Amino acid sequence: MSNYHIKHLEEYFQVYRKSVRNPEAFWEEIAEEHFLWRKKWDKVLSWDFSKPEVTWFEGAQLNITENCIDRHLATRGEKTAIIFEPNNPEEEAQHISYYQLHDKVCRMANVLKEKGIQKGDRVCVYLPMIPELAVTILACARIGAIHSVVFAGFSSNALATRINDSDCKIVITSDGSYRGNKSIDLKGIVDKALEECPGVAHVLVAKRTKSTIEMKNGRDEWLQPLLDAAYGDCVPEIMDAEDPLFILYTSGSTGRPKGMVHTTGGYMVYTAYTFKNVFQYRENDVYWCTADIGWITGHSYIVYGPLANGATTVMFEGVPSYPDFGRFWEVIEKHKVNQFYTAPTAIRALAKQNLEFVENHDLSSLKVLGSVGEPINEEAWHWYNNNVGKKKSPIVDTWWQTETGGIMITPIPYVTPTTPTYATLPFIGIQPALMDEEGHEIMGNQVEGRLCIKFPWPSMARTIWGDHDRYRDTYFTAYKNNYFTGDGALRDAVGYYRITGRVDDVIIVSGHNLGTAPIEDAINEHPAVAESAIVGFPHDVKGNALYGYVILKETGETRDRDNLRNEINQQITEHIGPIAKLDKIQFVSGLPKTRSGKIMRRILRKIASNDVSNLGDTSTLLNPEVVQEIIDNVV
Ligand code: WT7
Repeated sequence: MSNYHIKHLEEYFQVYRKSVRNPEAFWEEIAEEHFLWRKKWDKVLSWDFSKPEVTWFEGAQLNITENCIDRHLATRGEKTAIIFEPNNPEEEAQHISYYQLHDKVCRMANVLKEKGIQKGDRVCVYLPMIPELAVTILACARIGAIHSVVFAGFSSNALATRINDSDCKIVITSDGSYRGNKSIDLKGIVDKALEECPGVAHVLVAKRTKSTIEMKNGRDEWLQPLLDAAYGDCVPEIMDAEDPLFILYTSGSTGRPKGMVHTTGGYMVYTAYTFKNVFQYRENDVYWCTADIGWITGHSYIVYGPLANGATTVMFEGVPSYPDFGRFWEVIEKHKVNQFYTAPTAIRALAKQNLEFVENHDLSSLKVLGSVGEPINEEAWHWYNNNVGKKKSPIVDTWWQTETGGIMITPIPYVTPTTPTYATLPFIGIQPALMDEEGHEIMGNQVEGRLCIKFPWPSMARTIWGDHDRYRDTYFTAYKNNYFTGDGALRDAVGYYRITGRVDDVIIVSGHNLGTAPIEDAINEHPAVAESAIVGFPHDVKGNALYGYVILKETGETRDRDNLRNEINQQITEHIGPIAKLDKIQFVSGLPKTRSGKIMRRILRKIASNDVSNLGDTSTLLNPEVVQEIIDNVV
């Protein structure tokens, strides 16, 4: 088992050096020894970041579900693959064995086939965190269909945009979803979205909340009877390593969401290898990632990475606050969770509660704690370390992105000494670089710059669905021959990386990646609004919250401001979803602009953050007088 499981720091450095000196030989060895291929590759890697074009394991053939399910059946058939923990703790948890998962995935695959879905077709999955979600994406992979999961908190508008962008033929959804003591009418959202989606011929509906919904004749069907009638075996479609596995949308700083395309072979190898090492997963461990499968974290580290290792992975339907703020700790105790992976925003929210919520539970099963999605501040890090890990479980602060497919900068627990707020060292095979504003690499330590990656890694996104030019322009143009992440970072004296945050117009709110432009577009559609600008400001639980500056049209001037604020947030909820709502809205007569008409967001960010001491030179603005007005009326 060469290099598959890193066990000490010296070994990390050795393997790291090997992986960058000869990446092809390194990844070839990993791929060869730990996965099931129907045909081996002709070439491990070809790449050209100027096009950009990257292929890993070209010529190889495989099916990822054979790797995630079938090959485990002989030795782990009875082992639990997925533990489903429902929203309501009174409802019994489900333990789905690898045998059962095989049966469920095959049935679902056959149902999709019956509906005419073939290799390469796009399938939209709009489901809550119920087993059908994992089963459906695996079923797509089984038959070579490309899944496009849309987080079930997105609105009908956002769903419609995503369905149409990738031309999905079918939508898999549920009647409703549970979220704490609320239930949400998912099917109603789908119905509304589909008014704009002529290409969708079928909707399959899983039953969850048993709420009354409308079923459109000839289009909508209940899923369960179809699954019951389907055959429990399905020959896996043989895929090329570079065939698309899925599309997952992420927001950009401008315009429409970007459908990041991930392919099969490299994604499998990298997510499996990182999972094994970053969580130091051992046979019979129980691993729990609290993310939703609607995000990349769930794709890579609830479904594909864990299952490719034959692991037991927990799927949690609920929220950290229901029925009370002890829920996470109760679930850890109940299922004897060994690795726990969550987001700083959840940690901060839980740290605000009475410590008894944690202390009432036996957390002694924990071996590794993970953090992902946004920078973890020092206070939250210590709270997590002291009260959850009892200073015995290392914290892995994992930096990565939807685009990277897998974890990129991270400690390896029990291997890399950790430092609060530092993601520490690049993972095996990852070659980070810090760049200055002129586009030159900054060498040495104790430096800060823009974070790029200078060499391909197996799980990187290959393109943006339908828009390869945008892929090139967004990621490969700013720094020649480098992938630009959009983040800033510093490298300290020992070479550890600390991510300092986005340097573009993306704002991370509660770990969710939000682009300013789509939110502004949504606000500007309000009939009383002339123009708007969104910035982030520090928030003690969410990390960042959104602050909106809004210029009203003359017709809006006489309207009640609080009503307008509600309507604007309603508008955002309808266009994007509740996650993009603004915490503060200030009505202004103008926005600070450069002479070329560009909004000076830097100034707006400072005002929103209550940091007006050093606004820099505002005299070159087109309308410098507006700055004082904005400061005087800050909310
Ligand atoms: C952005 C990517 C990776 C899965 C979840 C988010 C921020 C992510 C960290 C971290 C500091 C982080 C970055 C990144 N981010 N992890 N450990 N420390 N920042 O995926 O929605 O594509 O967002 O999240 O700004 O660019 P995503």
